[in-house]
Amino acid sequence: MTDTLIDVRTAVTVADLTLEEKASLTSGGSFWKTKAIERAGIPAVMVTDGPHGLRKQREGGDHLGLGDSVPATCFPPAAGIGSSWDADLIERVGEALGTETAIEDVAVLLGPGINIKRSPLCGRNFEYLSEDPIVSGVLGAAIVRGIQSKGVGTSLKHFAANNQEHDRMRASSEVDERPLREIYLRGFQRVVEDAQPWTVMCSYNRINGVYASEDPWLLTQVLRDEWGFEGLVVSDWGAVNERVTGLAAGMDLEMPTSNGTTDAQIVAAVQDGSLDESVVDVAAGRVLDLVRKAEAGAGSITGPLDVDAHHALAREAAGRSIVLLRNEGGILPLAASSSVAVIGAFAQSPRFQGAGSSMINPTRLDNALDEIVAVAGSDKVGYAQGFTISAKDTADAADLRAAAVELAAAQDVAVVFLGLPAAAESEGYDREHIDLPAVQLELLDAVLAVNPNTVVVLSNGSVVALPFADRVPAILEGWLLGQAGGAATADVLYGAVNPSAKLTETIPLRLQDTAAFLDFGGSEGRVRYGEGLFVGYRWFDARELEVAYPFGHGLSYTSFAYGEAAASVTPAGDIEVRVTVTNTGDRDGREVVQVYTSLPGSAVQRAVRELKTFASVALAAGESREVVLTVRREDLAYWNVRAQEWVVEGGDYTIAVAASSRDLRSTVIVAVEGDAVATPLSRESSLAEVFAHPVAGPIVQGAMAQMMSTMDGAASIMPEGVDMMAMMGSFPIGRIGMIAGPDFSAEQIDQLIAMANA
Ligand code: BGC
Repeated sequence: MTDTLIDVRTAVTVADLTLEEKASLTSGGSFWKTKAIERAGIPAVMVTDGPHGLRKQREGGDHLGLGDSVPATCFPPAAGIGSSWDADLIERVGEALGTETAIEDVAVLLGPGINIKRSPLCGRNFEYLSEDPIVSGVLGAAIVRGIQSKGVGTSLKHFAANNQEHDRMRASSEVDERPLREIYLRGFQRVVEDAQPWTVMCSYNRINGVYASEDPWLLTQVLRDEWGFEGLVVSDWGAVNERVTGLAAGMDLEMPTSNGTTDAQIVAAVQDGSLDESVVDVAAGRVLDLVRKAEAGAGSITGPLDVDAHHALAREAAGRSIVLLRNEGGILPLAASSSVAVIGAFAQSPRFQGAGSSMINPTRLDNALDEIVAVAGSDKVGYAQGFTISAKDTADAADLRAAAVELAAAQDVAVVFLGLPAAAESEGYDREHIDLPAVQLELLDAVLAVNPNTVVVLSNGSVVALPFADRVPAILEGWLLGQAGGAATADVLYGAVNPSAKLTETIPLRLQDTAAFLDFGGSEGRVRYGEGLFVGYRWFDARELEVAYPFGHGLSYTSFAYGEAAASVTPAGDIEVRVTVTNTGDRDGREVVQVYTSLPGSAVQRAVRELKTFASVALAAGESREVVLTVRREDLAYWNVRAQEWVVEGGDYTIAVAASSRDLRSTVIVAVEGDAVATPLSRESSLAEVFAHPVAGPIVQGAMAQMMSTMDGAASIMPEGVDMMAMMGSFPIGRIGMIAGPDFSAEQIDQLIAMANA
């Protein structure tokens, strides 16, 4: 895990180091390593990408996935594995990732990425888990726990509001406080509080005008003071703008190396008095802590890597990532005795991961065609390429299509593999549309015309439009499945694995229907998050828009029945939800049980319903089980902008136990006691707010009543039924003198406010 030439003295502290040495620790020594200080016996430690496998490059590598890296197991990227909604499975994959990281002497695996999928267009959505913060947070914490259980660290990224690739190194994400807290930061908060990642990676972008890498609010106030983060903040590669400003804000380690330039800036700032040396001590101390943690874990896991065992886990994870979107007439699973036309180049050349810094050099690579042949036998399986994926492939489109149609017409079933070419979505740029290539859609239509028993298998890192959804009896959304995706696809097609994955992002009918359609990408360096809280399903539900497939949707080869849900508030204030789920079919399976809450009549803007907790439950055929789920009280809270704190609003919450965001199976109401909100009164407070205040309210109400009684003449010209209080409720108390005259002097109002706030 460290440069072995250097003798480690773990007892070294910042007090033993010169200013220059401390400053030197706060930036990288090379592309993938921290700096060593030989004099003090401090070794360099290595960090590498991530996230769904280990990408350990040769020294002097690049971060764009251009160079080669040591072979490692390529597990399904986040878009795939997130669809399992299974924290236990994901933690096991995390453990395997941690093992591979440790074997290769790497201290930190640079992941997971948990940014919210704000728009299907984001080029890097394949690296992210969901459009929902609870899914991202719960599953992100599971990955961190798994990896870190092996004595190596993680880097939770990209902190924060980094939801597009376009102009990613400069653009300012302009987000209101509530969506920032409730949607974009909530997942990060969950992972930090539940799993304490060793490091958090700050993103390239600005947030409301301030670079994430130099934002004291983000990196210190929120991350450390509020959430209790104990680790180190590392910059995304090249995210540093002003190094000294960043250091003071809480950005501890700049990566990659600055070749000493920024270290010198830090030393100069201390020397000219513009930076307190204690700031350097803190950051250098955190780098030392990281080195110590790495040393503590070093050598505990050694190779060789059990390639077969990890490939088998990758296959299990891939099988759990495939979403059965549709299965009319039970066309799936296929009978091994059916003859099958396997069509589409992805069946033979799988697209199994996304482009950019996360590209893994897999230990092996399955393809679906070979695996289908292995199950059904070569006499039952024919293959036609159908279309070209790569522009370099000059085969004639008409010839490819004709051969595929001929094959499809002759077989019982056609399984058509469609997907996005690798270049369609990547780190560094966004998509411009969500359509599959026209040549593939035309091929599918031609196949359907000769064989209605057609199954579509999709390979894409983020959602694609499915204009054929009503015409094709079965659709498997395969996302990107990692190195064992081919075998896993055959497992699901033939029923060795019963699909149990569900969508962590809505599949829209049209790009134009999506929440960020108008603002995504931004202009002149600013990206307005105009949809506010209404991201993903929150938007489609609020606007009552039809979707192709809703958030949380996914079918199984068996069926599940839900009993009546019950809910109660625990002594700790959480909501415990109980529901009996029954596997009513004749196959073993898993159901992802989802719990959504709503608060009708809320005093603040809210989504129609919001996911709060979920569980992936294995049920044997015919088995019934009571599932107990806990909604944490803090997850009911909204960010109260006036009070600048999380507040649980009191009221009757509707708890919906659901099979998807649009398939609510049982609802129950539970009364929740609200938090007392200490919103201080000010001259800006409205009369309604003052009336509701326990101290000031009665005083002002009394005074107002008296005043009204002396204004009979004026009141009498009001139409009957007009509610004077409703009319005046929004009037700021500081301006009441305009109406009340000398009865409410400015001094009296200030006294009242002071008394109320005391
Ligand atoms: C990416 C990070 C990655 C880093 C190192 C950056 O361009 O945004 O996700 O960890 O490079 O490769």
